[in-house]
Amino acid sequence: MTTETIEKHAVPEGFEDAFVTPDTYQKLYDESISDPEGFWGREGKRLDWIEPYTRVKDTNFTFGDVSIKWYEDGILNASVNCVDRHLEKRADQTAIIFEPDDPKEPAQHITYAQLSENVNRMANVLLSQGIMRGDRVVIYLPMIPEAAYAMLACARIGAIHSIVFAGFSPDALANRINDCGAKVVITADTAPRGGRKTALKSNTDAALLHTSDRVRCLVVKHTGDQTTWVEGRDVDVKAQMKAASPECPPRPMNAEDPLFILYTSGSTGKPKGVVHSTGGYLVYAAMTHQYTFDYKDGDIFWCTADVGWVTGHSYIIYGPLANGATTLMFEGVPTWPDAGRMWEVCDKHKVTQFYTAPTAIRALMAKGPEFVEKHDLSTLRILGTVGEPINPEAWNWYNNHVGKGRCPIVDTWWQTETGGHLITPLPGATETKPGSATVPFFGVKPVVLDPESAKVQEGNPAEGVLCIGDSWPGQMRTVWGDHQRFMETYFQQYPGYYFTGDGCRRDEDGYYWITGRVDDVINVSGHRMGTAEVESALVAHDKVAEAAVVGYPHPVKGQGIYAYVTLMNGVEPTEELRKELETWVRSEIGPIAKPDLIQWTPGMPKTRSGKIMRRILRKIAENDYGSLGDTSTLAEPEVVDDLIENRMNRG
Ligand code: WTA
Repeated sequence: MTTETIEKHAVPEGFEDAFVTPDTYQKLYDESISDPEGFWGREGKRLDWIEPYTRVKDTNFTFGDVSIKWYEDGILNASVNCVDRHLEKRADQTAIIFEPDDPKEPAQHITYAQLSENVNRMANVLLSQGIMRGDRVVIYLPMIPEAAYAMLACARIGAIHSIVFAGFSPDALANRINDCGAKVVITADTAPRGGRKTALKSNTDAALLHTSDRVRCLVVKHTGDQTTWVEGRDVDVKAQMKAASPECPPRPMNAEDPLFILYTSGSTGKPKGVVHSTGGYLVYAAMTHQYTFDYKDGDIFWCTADVGWVTGHSYIIYGPLANGATTLMFEGVPTWPDAGRMWEVCDKHKVTQFYTAPTAIRALMAKGPEFVEKHDLSTLRILGTVGEPINPEAWNWYNNHVGKGRCPIVDTWWQTETGGHLITPLPGATETKPGSATVPFFGVKPVVLDPESAKVQEGNPAEGVLCIGDSWPGQMRTVWGDHQRFMETYFQQYPGYYFTGDGCRRDEDGYYWITGRVDDVINVSGHRMGTAEVESALVAHDKVAEAAVVGYPHPVKGQGIYAYVTLMNGVEPTEELRKELETWVRSEIGPIAKPDLIQWTPGMPKTRSGKIMRRILRKIAENDYGSLGDTSTLAEPEVVDDLIENRMNRG
């Protein structure tokens, strides 16, 4: 489908009172660009400051001197903004609805008063373990309320949390603990998901074999399952919380003090520790949550992401709680006990905003509409998507079957690095086009550059790489421990701009269409992954000589993982070995990195200088081998014939 044939959807009726309307959008956007100091100076006041800021913006995108500071002389505490300041009016309002994996278990409604008590107790537990301001705390927890308590407890005492997705392997966990030099890791005994359990504590035990032996292990006894226990190292968090004081004074923090580190994949090397700030990040998370989802008092907000990803940070925890919202945390999966679970939860808790990933929509779409039709979804007002481009077919299904044509769909484009939405419709203001993230959020200056000449593409339509022309408060500040890498990754290739790594098209109406990554990052079921990480896991296996990994179009996952593998001399390719490699990658990185297709190859297509021509591998993986382009520079052109003949994707 070309963009010309895609119809525009008007803002549905009933959004006249939205925070942002078509008129106010243009007015505010223009102001945010012409007077960022004034605009963000005013927006910053949505937080409570212990010492107000006098300086708003001090940012520099020049390679070599990159420095990003917002509200730099302001003093605040993030947990006070997410908890304490709501107590006067909202002590008895539900802050978090916890919906457990098993629908037969009762849901929990945690009020702001209870949230406060738990965060304070957990903060005291961390203090009693010797955690101080600036120390790193790794959180390896499932989607349970203790994850929220742990994040906010860190914020309360000025410790920097780094959440590691509970689906990651012991190795991946150990690497992150070591990279940020964490003093403790907070985990749980076991984590039920979709009726099956992950042994988080035993994963953590395995990880801690590869870290300093001073790292403490705080264990949330969530299921009560038996685990090993290392005296002197392991701590029973719940028992300690019970004994701790329910009051812990918040630590005054500078706006630029790091709030958290979150590891994410890049095109090269090991995952980067993305550092977010306390002040600017929180302003941006709160503001985007309010405007993009038109969040109003009394709404029940549900973001289905995991807290292990940035979406969970900004739109389950920090944004909603800074706004005094009711946020839903779901421990389970969309397809268990059946494909109606999401809609059952929406119905049960009267959800008003529902925010999920296109991969989930496609998976549920494949099960048929009867699972949706069974449930009353009349409370839904706004639907959102994030993580990857949404195909118009999935968009239309979401709109017709879930939103019944009366809920605006916000297709939010952003990244771990950006802290919050950068390009997104606003429900009361923006006409939508299925598949387009539409227009920039306030203060965001998207720029389309020609990938080769780096020339700015003025006028519409335009196509090229997507960069951002100036800073916004939610922008990452640095890569943990490696500012040089931060500058090289985002500011070197296109001088003066933040380079997103995404390609895009801007249509005749000025709407943005994200076309996907232009680097070696792939997006599998909304999970971001570096092909280099999967390659290095494969070559770590002693039967593998060489590996190259690319993405290919996958009907449900968006992209699947396609691995080309050359075995060591004398090793026979067998089905057992294929299974062995799949299991190997699962254990090296985690289940989300398991290759979907493995093709054995006697060699890789290389230039005479020995560089693998990934362009060719991508084309073959896409089953588009008729257009390989010029292969004359290859050292051994006949490798290509073998690759085509034995290709795995013939769909
Ligand atoms: C992709 C997730 C198209 C994009 C918040 C980006 C999207 C990467 C969208 C970041 C969208 C995210 N439309 N593509 N609405 N949202 N992406 O860091 O390629 O896990 O660069 O952050 O996901 O993934 P990350």
